[in-house]
Amino acid sequence: MHSEASDAEFDHDVSVLAASRPFQVVLDFTTGLLTPSGGSFVRRLSDMASAYEDQEVVKRMLASGDDPVIYKSYCADVPHEPGHLAFLTTIITPGTVGSEFFMTKGHHHYRDSAELYLAMSGEGLMIMESHEGDFVQQELVPSALVYVPPGWAHRTVNTGSGRLTFMAAYFGDAGHDYASMESMGGFSIRVHRGDDGPQLRPSTSRDRVEGPR
Ligand SMILES: [Fe+2]
Repeated sequence: MHSEASDAEFDHDVSVLAASRPFQVVLDFTTGLLTPSGGSFVRRLSDMASAYEDQEVVKRMLASGDDPVIYKSYCADVPHEPGHLAFLTTIITPGTVGSEFFMTKGHHHYRDSAELYLAMSGEGLMIMESHEGDFVQQELVPSALVYVPPGWAHRTVNTGSGRLTFMAAYFGDAGHDYASMESMGGFSIRVHRGDDGPQLRPSTSRDRVEGPR
């Protein structure tokens, strides 16, 4: 399912005159703030309830009014158009849903194109999966750069006790396709809290039929 709404989120508040001239912004490596930013968006558990494996826990949390902010992003004031290089910062809250760590929704780009991630603070994992089903994980620790080749779906996971912050830069016309992974029941591997740290386990929700976003 092609989702216009998901990309509209990324274009939120970005002015049409943005980036017509060179500009500078400041990254705060501790807080993850981008100053000034062209806009921001927040994803709570209720915005991505189907992304988590343990749906009973999700239902219980939401029914009791527990709807935590999973992550927040600050977007640079750059148009999502060919030729531009869009970028944003993301701050993932520490926590779990059941035993599964807080994480981003994860996506492909509509136009297969590369993306560069720079981890700024905290501890996490980036999981990536190709169209052919190859799976790769990379650690996100401060100063780590992760290159995501064209065609690889990607998700970031906060496996630490504090906030995970990172910056990502991608082609302006790449577009964000969340539905491709949702329709498959998510990534083939999930990241859980284990006794001795993060534990990667095969997903049991690959055969779950996802509803509309
Ligand atoms: Fe991306």
